[in-house]
Amino acid sequence: MWLQLSSDPRARNSVQLQGGALNKRRTRMRGALLIAGAIGLSLAAPTRADDGPATFKGQCAACHGADGSGSTAVGKSLKIRDLRSADVQKQTDEQLTGIITNGKGAMPAYKDKMTADQIQQLVAFIRQLAKKG
Ligand code: HEC
Repeated sequence: MWLQLSSDPRARNSVQLQGGALNKRRTRMRGALLIAGAIGLSLAAPTRADDGPATFKGQCAACHGADGSGSTAVGKSLKIRDLRSADVQKQTDEQLTGIITNGKGAMPAYKDKMTADQIQQLVAFIRQLAKKG
């Protein structure tokens, strides 16, 4: 009996269509907000592209230890090598970048979580750790 509600059925259809489009737009908006929220969070977290030490502390230290020694509970159980050791340091920047980017064994891949710049900063930080002793 909806024909009685509207003199022109096409008008009603177009209202419904618009409603559908609006709903879709709202859903998309929610998605965009979620993404914006996630980006906001990751910006608030200490993972700035120019901040290797903070990124390491936030993302890597749980396993590798703040000093890279690997003397954490996880590090010991996974037998992670000391990042300052000669065996680790003798690898090229490309090799270390590859391990952080693509992961290796129990080491997670970071290619979806970090920019190439951030990974570069981490490699630089690992070199710095070794120099500190
Ligand atoms: C869940 C624990 C975990 C986290 C978090 C983690 N790693 Fe690892 N990492 C490992 C393990 C385990 C290995 C040893 C992998 C192997 O040799 O099979 C490893 C190996 C490495 C290596 C190579 C060392 C070697 O023996 O040659 C580098 C470099 C490295 N990790 C850097 C990082 C950086 C940088 C981060 C943070 C972005 C990070 N890791 C986060 C567990 C972790």
